[in-house]
Amino acid sequence: MKRQQPPSLPGSLPLSRRQILLGTAAAATALTTQSRAAQRADLNQASLAALAAEKGLLLAASFAVHEMDASYGKAYAQAYIDNVGGITSELCFKMGMLRPTADKLDFGPADRLTNFAQQNGMKLRAHTLIWNDALPEWVHRLRAGEIELLMDAHLLSIMERYRGRVWAWDVVNEPIGPWDKLPGNLRNGPFYAAMGEGYIARAFRAARGYDPMALLVLNEAQTETADGNGQIFRDSLLALLKRLKAEDVPIDAIGLQSHLRSDRPYDMPRFVGFLDEIAALGYAIHITEFDVNDVAYSGSIAARDQAVAKLYRDFLTPVLAHKAVKVLTFWQLADRNSWLTYGAKEKGMKRMPRPLPLDDDFQRKPAWYALAEVLKGTPPR
Ligand code: G3I
Repeated sequence: MKRQQPPSLPGSLPLSRRQILLGTAAAATALTTQSRAAQRADLNQASLAALAAEKGLLLAASFAVHEMDASYGKAYAQAYIDNVGGITSELCFKMGMLRPTADKLDFGPADRLTNFAQQNGMKLRAHTLIWNDALPEWVHRLRAGEIELLMDAHLLSIMERYRGRVWAWDVVNEPIGPWDKLPGNLRNGPFYAAMGEGYIARAFRAARGYDPMALLVLNEAQTETADGNGQIFRDSLLALLKRLKAEDVPIDAIGLQSHLRSDRPYDMPRFVGFLDEIAALGYAIHITEFDVNDVAYSGSIAARDQAVAKLYRDFLTPVLAHKAVKVLTFWQLADRNSWLTYGAKEKGMKRMPRPLPLDDDFQRKPAWYALAEVLKGTPPR
C-alpha cells in the first residue's frame, strides 16, 4: 500500500513524516521540560511538610543540637524550619547523653532540642529511652537488680520532665539481634540480661503510666531488604509483636528505621505485605530513620544523585501509599550531617555518601524533588 503522505500543515511547506515526528518529539520534550519546570516551580512554593500534612503524614528528620553551634548552624536550623513538621532527637534523649555518669543527669541538650521544637511548632520524637546499645560504660557495671531500678528511674525522670512536650517516644530501640542467638532472635544487652524479653513489656507499661498522652513506639532496623537477613528481622519482629499484643502491652506504633543501601535487594510487594501484617495487629507504622547509603553506586555525583532519587521513589511510593504509615523521618536532612559520614577519614572513605534530600549547602537534590513528587501523588491517610 502506497505510503500515505502526512497532510501538509496549513501555511507551511509540506513536512516530511520524519520532520513531523522530530517536531512532535521536540514539542513533547519541550512540554516535559516545561511541565517539569512548572512542577518544580509549583514544588518550590509548597513545603514538603505541607505536602505531607495534606495527606495526613508527619514529615520529620533527626536533629542534633550541637550542629546549631557549627559555622553552618543557622542554615542547618533553617533547613528544618523550611522542610519538616517534626524532629527526632538523634543523640540527646539517649541514656549516654542524659546520664553521662551514674550520679549525673544532663538535661541541657534535651531541653534545647525540646525548646527548638516547641518554638518552631514541630512535633518531637524522643529517641530512645531503652536500647541495649550505645550505653554509657557505667551501665555495664551494674548488677541485675540495679538494672531494673535504673530502667524505672530513667523512664520516670525523663518522661515526667518532658511529658506533654514529646509527641512520640521510641521507648525500646532495636530489640532484635539474631547474632546473639537468643530465643526469638532477641538482642542481648544489660536490659535483656537482667529481665529477659520481659524488659520490653516492663518499659512500655511504665512509659504508658508516665506519659499517657504520648505515642509509644517500638523501633527496629534491618527489616527492609529482600534477603535472608531482612527475612529473619521481619519474621522475628512480627513474632515479638504478636507476643506483646497477646500480653496487651501498650504499644501504639512500630518504627521501621529504613536505612537503605544501594547494594542491597528490595522487593516492595513483599515489604508492603510485611506492613500489612504489622497493621493487621493494630499498630501504626512510623518510618523512623530513612536514608540511602549510595557509596556502592559508581559514576558521577549527578548519576549517583539520580540513582538515589530513583530508590527514594521506588521505596517511598508503595510505603507512603500504605494507610498505616503515619510518619516519614529522615536521619538528618543534609548529606554533611549524616551518620554515614562519621569517621570517613579513619575509614579511608574515597567518596562521601549522599544519602539525603539536601546537599552539603542545604540545597535541594534530585532526591528532594523525588520525595516531593511522591508526597504529591500519595493518597491521604
Ligand atoms: O560529639 C562527639 C565528639 O565530640 C567526639 O569527639 C566524638 C568521638 O568520640 O564522638 C562524638 O559523639 C558521637 C555522636 O554520634 C555525634 O557524632 C558519638 O561518639 C557516637 O556514638 C554517636 O553515634 C550515634 C549513634 O546512633 C550512637 O548513638 C550517631 O550519631 C547516630 O546517627 C546513630 O543513630 C542510630 C540510631 O540511634 C538507631 N538506629 C541506627 C542509627 C545509626 O547508627
